[in-house]
Amino acid sequence: MNSCVIGLQWGDEGKGKVVDILAEHSDIVVRYGGGANAGHTVVVGDEKFALHLLPSGSVRPNTTCVIANGVVVDPEVLIEEIGRLAKKGISLAKRLLVSENAHVVLDYHKMEDRLREESLGKNKIGTTARGIGPCYADKAGRGYCVRVGDLRDLDTLRAKLRAIIEYKNKIFKALYGAEPISDAEIFEKCACYAETLALFITDTTEFLHRSITKGKSILFEGAQGSLLDIDHGTFPFVTSSNSSVLGMPSGSGVPAKMVDKFVGVAKAYSTRVGAGPFPTEQDNEIGQYIRERGNEYGTTTGRPRRCGWFDAVAVSYSVTIGAIDSVALMHLDTLSGLKELKICRAYRIDGEERHFFPANTARLANAAAIYETAAGWDEDITEVNDFNDLPTNAQDYVCRLEELTKKPITMIGVGPKRSQTITR
Ligand code: GDP
Ligand code: IMO
Ligand code: MG
Repeated sequence: MNSCVIGLQWGDEGKGKVVDILAEHSDIVVRYGGGANAGHTVVVGDEKFALHLLPSGSVRPNTTCVIANGVVVDPEVLIEEIGRLAKKGISLAKRLLVSENAHVVLDYHKMEDRLREESLGKNKIGTTARGIGPCYADKAGRGYCVRVGDLRDLDTLRAKLRAIIEYKNKIFKALYGAEPISDAEIFEKCACYAETLALFITDTTEFLHRSITKGKSILFEGAQGSLLDIDHGTFPFVTSSNSSVLGMPSGSGVPAKMVDKFVGVAKAYSTRVGAGPFPTEQDNEIGQYIRERGNEYGTTTGRPRRCGWFDAVAVSYSVTIGAIDSVALMHLDTLSGLKELKICRAYRIDGEERHFFPANTARLANAAAIYETAAGWDEDITEVNDFNDLPTNAQDYVCRLEELTKKPITMIGVGPKRSQTITR
């Protein structure tokens, strides 16, 4: 049985927690897209792990972890993360595989990310400044790239870096008046990365297909959310990869038809970090209530997340383009204490009621949410572990979201811990 976990909103839906739970029944967990812009939280007992590049399965000592071709790998972050887990007694030795074909994020990508955002001024995207866009742009451009496999041949890499940095320096000086960066310095860093990472570098596509043949169970861990997909999200306020289900086959080398189950993750409300249209945003005391109760501050950047009501139009769109089988609904506990809840069931655009999410920023910015109202509940539900023990209004809320999204909600989060999950 192979499955895939995908964010159905704008990221931070609680994918880390869902992957951690499903990883109990998986041999291998695979990150196949995005990079250290991701921040996936796993809480085991009193221990909290924030993972940026390692798959969330890494906290389980017997799970094999794969970072596949489609990921942009920042070796500094990866090495730091491996070290952080080692300090907690969790070793990645002999169970981490990093694709030789994945592209490497280096300092000049992060520099370019910052410089470009600054130059965009009020039109900035609000990126995580992790160098993601510039690295994927270099990948698409093909001429000036470093891939993970290049760390195995340092002589060739030295010459390659000289050419790349000569080129980057010209551009950075012309566009931003930036000081030149030193290729020797970047090379020295790469030589250090190579020492630590060499053992992990391999052909992950071959490994995954060999594992499938042997009957191993694979869990694919999506990063970001479907609405941040570069082709199908709210462009240009998106990330630079296919973060919907559509990126899974290209990023991993495993066809979607080899995946038995696609699990979508959504919060019981909506959040977004960075700029871009957000029809159900509550930039008011409701949004503030959700932010404080849900601890809605970025796992990667610490930025306060924008908060709003559940948007069934947006989630249904992600379900549709991803052929999602079931939904994990997280953070139901965060909504306790609100007298009434709003659910967006449609948009009004240019006077017309619409039910299909327009992945076009101008049209979406024009969309007014059409709400229906649900009754809230006061009870603390963080200790509930059976659906039937939830307050009736909470049960009704979940059932209504199921009706609107036309998918079964099979998992419900009532707190950040592994144990705070209701399975249906
Ligand atoms: P991801 O990027 O999708 O993995 O999500 P993040 O880790 O960035 O953000 C989700 C946050 O919500 C983390 O702090 C989780 O520990 C927390 N979380 C996950 N599920 C629940 C839940 O059901 N209730 C509450 N209160 N917190 C949750
Ligand atoms: P996880 O995997 C939430 C957002 C950024 C910004 C846009 C582009 O934890 O759900 P980028 O740095 O990718 O160029 O930024 O995408 N973004 C995320 N938002 N969760 C994430 O990852 C995100 N990764 C990128 O805030 O709006
Ligand atoms: Mg996150």
